[in-house]
Amino acid sequence: MAVLPIYVYDQAVLRKKAKPVQKVDEHLARFVDDMFETMRKANGVGLAANQVGSLQRVVVIDVSGYEGMENVKPLVLLNPRIVEEGEEEVTMEEGCLSLPELRDEVGRPEMVTVEYQDLDLQKQLIEADGILARVLQHEIDHLNGVLFIDRLGSVRRKLLRGRLNKILKGEVEANYPIVVSTQTPEPHMR
Ligand code: NI
Repeated sequence: MAVLPIYVYDQAVLRKKAKPVQKVDEHLARFVDDMFETMRKANGVGLAANQVGSLQRVVVIDVSGYEGMENVKPLVLLNPRIVEEGEEEVTMEEGCLSLPELRDEVGRPEMVTVEYQDLDLQKQLIEADGILARVLQHEIDHLNGVLFIDRLGSVRRKLLRGRLNKILKGEVEANYPIVVSTQTPEPHMR
């Protein structure tokens, strides 16, 4: 397994729509392992393929570190999509490994139903609320080129502008390997 560098705001790959996974081979299996290793190294609870420079519709999630979520198994979601949203919206603080040191309150539906394929390409349905619903929505956004800051109102966006500009200029530190916007990304291994 390998820790992959995480692409940071506003690398082009974060703004692209990832493509559906058609088959699961050993490359993809290894890639998924690497995504888990990368997420754990960075103390994240979710990671989308775009964030490690790959435009495949792959998400990994592990919320078992949250209180009361210890029994929730790590999830690999291929081609996930939201098929149903609850009507109630809740506000929750979010962060993102592609936006180091930045957090803000984001409103999203409290409950979602997500359809996805597992590593055997079998269709699965997951109904989630709370933190899991939150992470699912955040990560599926990534696959569509959307970051949580895009969901903030203009006032909040303005307040973050200074911080975002610093990240753009590469004035950012993280305790995991990153690729900043001023760097030319290396071609991905896949
Ligand atoms: Ni994120």
